[in-house]
Amino acid sequence: MAERVFCVDFGSAYTKVALRRDPTADSALLACAGADVDFWVPTVVAVDRRGADPRLEFGDRAADLRSGGGIDVYTNFKKDLFTAPTSAPGKPVVSPLDALLQSEEFVTLAARYGVQSPQVAALRSMAAAARTLVAGPGERVVSLEGHRQANAVKLVYNFFLWLRKQVLDACARLPASGLKFEDFPVRVTVPAVAPSSDLASHPSCKLLREALHRAGWPLHAEQPFVAEPEANAIGILTKAANALTRSGRVNLGQMFNKGPLITVMKGDHNYPTYRALVIDVGAYTTDLAALFIDTGGNPVETADGAGFGVTQRSVPFGVSDLDQSVRAALPPDKKAWLESAPHKEFQTFQRTYSGESKGYRVAGLGVIGGEPDRPALSACLDQFTQRLTDEVTKFCAALPSVSMQELVLTGGGNNIPAVRDALIAAAQTGGVRFVKTHAPDLKRGKAGAPLVDKLDETFARGGSALGGASLYFERSYY
Ligand SMILES: Nc1ncnc2c1ncn2[C@@H]1O[C@H](COP(=O)(O)OP(=O)(O)OP(=O)(O)O)[C@@H](O)[C@H]1O
Ligand SMILES: [Mg+2]
Repeated sequence: MAERVFCVDFGSAYTKVALRRDPTADSALLACAGADVDFWVPTVVAVDRRGADPRLEFGDRAADLRSGGGIDVYTNFKKDLFTAPTSAPGKPVVSPLDALLQSEEFVTLAARYGVQSPQVAALRSMAAAARTLVAGPGERVVSLEGHRQANAVKLVYNFFLWLRKQVLDACARLPASGLKFEDFPVRVTVPAVAPSSDLASHPSCKLLREALHRAGWPLHAEQPFVAEPEANAIGILTKAANALTRSGRVNLGQMFNKGPLITVMKGDHNYPTYRALVIDVGAYTTDLAALFIDTGGNPVETADGAGFGVTQRSVPFGVSDLDQSVRAALPPDKKAWLESAPHKEFQTFQRTYSGESKGYRVAGLGVIGGEPDRPALSACLDQFTQRLTDEVTKFCAALPSVSMQELVLTGGGNNIPAVRDALIAAAQTGGVRFVKTHAPDLKRGKAGAPLVDKLDETFARGGSALGGASLYFERSYY
C-alpha cells in the first residue's frame, strides 16, 4: 500500500513532478529551483565536450544551449524511447552511418565542400563494403531506431538521475515534516501504448523501468506506470484532491465533488451514464481518453474499484510534428537558424507565431514568421489542426452516446487558439453537447450556456502529474 507517492509526467518537451505526501493530502506539483516556470523542467540534456571531460547539463540550463562547437543538445528523446526499433515490414534496416551517407543533407554538405557526386557514391559503397567485411555474414545490423533507442535510454537514465536530486532538494525546501521522501515510490505517466494493466510489460516501459531503477527511484510496487490521458482526466476532474472515508477507503464521492460528475455518482435517473472526454495535445503524442460510467441511476458503489471504463488512444503526432513542418516550410536561412536555436528561443518563436500571429525578430536575419512567411505557417497550422480533428472525430465516432459529458482539453498544444477551437468543434460533431468544458484561456459563456473551467497552467500542463499521484490509482484503498 503506497500511502505517499511521487508522480513524474515524463513529457517529451517538459517534465512535471507531483507529490502526494499523505493519503488525504492534495497532490501538489513540486517546484524545481532555478526553473523558469517553477513546476516543470524542459526535458533536455546537453553534453559539453569542450573541456578535458564531458560535462552534462539538464533542464533549463541545457535548454539555453545551442548545439555545435563541441556541445550536443538532446531533445525529444522520449520519442526515441517509445519508437519500436523493429523496422516496418518491407522497410530495410539502415544503420546511422548509412542513413547519414544516404541523406539529402549529406549530399548538400558534400556539394558545399566541392565534393563531386561520383565521390559521394564511392564513399557510400566503400562504407557499405567495409561494414560487410567487419560485420561478417549473418551478423545483426542494428537499425537506426535501435541506435536511437539505445541512446535515449542513456539520456533517460542521466536525466532521471539529475531529476531525482532536483525532486529531493525541492522536498527538502518544504516545511519540515520528518518524512523520508527518498523512500517514496514513484509512478510515471507514459503514452497510452498499451492498456493500463499491460503498461509495465511494454518493451519501452521496461527500458524506462530499468533506467529509473539505476537512477535510484524506487518504483511503485503495484502500478509503476499509468497512461497519460487517464492520469490527466483524474487530475482535472478531482482538482488534485484526495480523500478517505471514515473506514479508510478511497472516497471517490468527495474527490469528484467539484463538478457535474457528482450528480451522476449520487444516482440520478435522468443521468445514468457519464463520460469525460480528454484531449491532451503534447509535444510527442496527442492522447485521447474517454472515462465512462453507467450507474443505472443508482448511487455508485466504489468498493469493487474505481468504476470507470476507460477507452484511450495515444496518437504519435504532436506539437513537435508541427514544429518540424514549420521549419521545413521556411526559407533555408530561417530554417537553419531555428534548427540550431536554443530550445527556449524556439519556444518563444512557437508562441508568437501560433498565438499572436506575430513574427520573431532575430538579429542579422530579420523577422521569422512575419508577413512574407504567414501563408506557409498558416498552411502548416491548418494541416496540423486537420489531422488532430480527424483523429478526434474517429475516436468519438466509436463511443456510445451518454446522458452527460464533460470535455477536457490539456497539453501545451491546446494553448494554440486555432487548435483548441477546432478540437472543441470536432468534439461536438453530430450535435454532441458537453455540460462543462475545461481548457486553457476559455471565455465564460452567457447565462445558461454550458459551464466552462478555464484551466491555469497548473492543470493545463500539470494535470497528468497531479492525476498520476492521485489516491484513485491506489487499488489497496478500494
Ligand atoms: N502558447 C503556446 N503556443 C504554442 N505552443 C505551445 C504553447 N504552450 C506550449 N506549447 C508547446 O506545446 C508543446 C506541448 O507541451 P506539453 O507540456 O503538453 O508537452 P509534453 O507533455 O512534454 O509532451 P508529451 O505529453 O507529448 O510527451 C510543447 O512543445 C510546448 O512548447
Ligand atoms: Mg504531456
